[in-house]
Amino acid sequence: MKNVLVVGGAGYIGSHTVFELIENDFSVVVVDDLSTGFEKAIHKDAKFYKGNIKDEEFLNEIFKKEKIDGVIHFAAFSQVGESVLNPLKYYENNVYGTMCLLKSMIKNNVNNIVFSSTAAVYGEPKKVPIEETDEKSPTNCYGETKLAIENMLKWFNNAYGLNHVCFRYFNAAGAHKSGLIGEAHSFETHLIPLVLKVALKQKDYISIFGTDYNTKDKTAVRDYVHVQDLATAHIKALEYLINGGKSDVFNLGSGIPCSVREIINAAKEVTGLNIPVKEEKRREGDPSILTASFLKAKKVLNWEPKHKNIKEIIESAYLWHKNNPEGYVVKAMSINY
Ligand code: UFG
Repeated sequence: MKNVLVVGGAGYIGSHTVFELIENDFSVVVVDDLSTGFEKAIHKDAKFYKGNIKDEEFLNEIFKKEKIDGVIHFAAFSQVGESVLNPLKYYENNVYGTMCLLKSMIKNNVNNIVFSSTAAVYGEPKKVPIEETDEKSPTNCYGETKLAIENMLKWFNNAYGLNHVCFRYFNAAGAHKSGLIGEAHSFETHLIPLVLKVALKQKDYISIFGTDYNTKDKTAVRDYVHVQDLATAHIKALEYLINGGKSDVFNLGSGIPCSVREIINAAKEVTGLNIPVKEEKRREGDPSILTASFLKAKKVLNWEPKHKNIKEIIESAYLWHKNNPEGYVVKAMSINY
């Protein structure tokens, strides 16, 4: 049985990947400092160490104790707005933290890592769908730190033989089919959870940021990809690396363009509830359209998103939000996996 270290395994995409790994008979060790993740999101069959990746001694201990075949790295701060206001926090945690993790991996002869990057590395695209070779020009510090890590991985591969797969996620959405884990942030900025909060009367209205974009209905267009499809991609990447695949970078998206209004309308249909909207000005730094070409991941990793319908994605998110209106904070879950 392969033993995988999931760093940031208590977060949104991390916790779903841990579930998927365990369902696929991997043995899982989770490291998370719980600064943004939740202990209740960690699968009970995973071994959990609470700590920060900047703590090299802590990591060295774990690598010595556990026989790790590969690492999946989700531990990062990911608030775009915050990253612009507090870049030091982002460089320190994301870039320096990853450097410590990689240093410890090299020291302990662990050579395979799957890294969470982002579509934010592209900035405002010149064309869509975006391909991996397109220009990288981040418009915020978050994307900049992820690009710096991608480059660090390239040089570490060259010098130390550390193999990597970088995934540039587009808009992660949805929740585990069980409804037991889902998206929960202490400060929520993402469209789908906010729309569902409005439906559930936890919020009065949803702001539409920008109704003057050059798009089909004048609102911004994104590529929403189901979190379980992202989780599956990580397993394929890990197997690819363990079987000697060469280091590479892939987009992960559904390839389906979806506007803000389309999300709101789909959520109305799924919930059958009223969702009042308020039209507001554009949010600073938001590109008008971001959609992915995932053909490379399909060709090389044999990965394809299974959830291609936005209503299906919203349905899974709704199940989670309905059952856990306060996220992980109030409701203690007694999970029977
Ligand atoms: N939006 C609204 N109202 C809201 C919230 C969002 O209209 O209340 C709009 C945004 O302006 C944007 C779209 O909905 O046009 C999606 O916004 P999200 O905040 O859900 O997601 P982003 O596209 O801004 O961010 C995502 C990831 C980031 C990543 C970024 C790359 O969540 O981690 O894509 O551009 F950095």
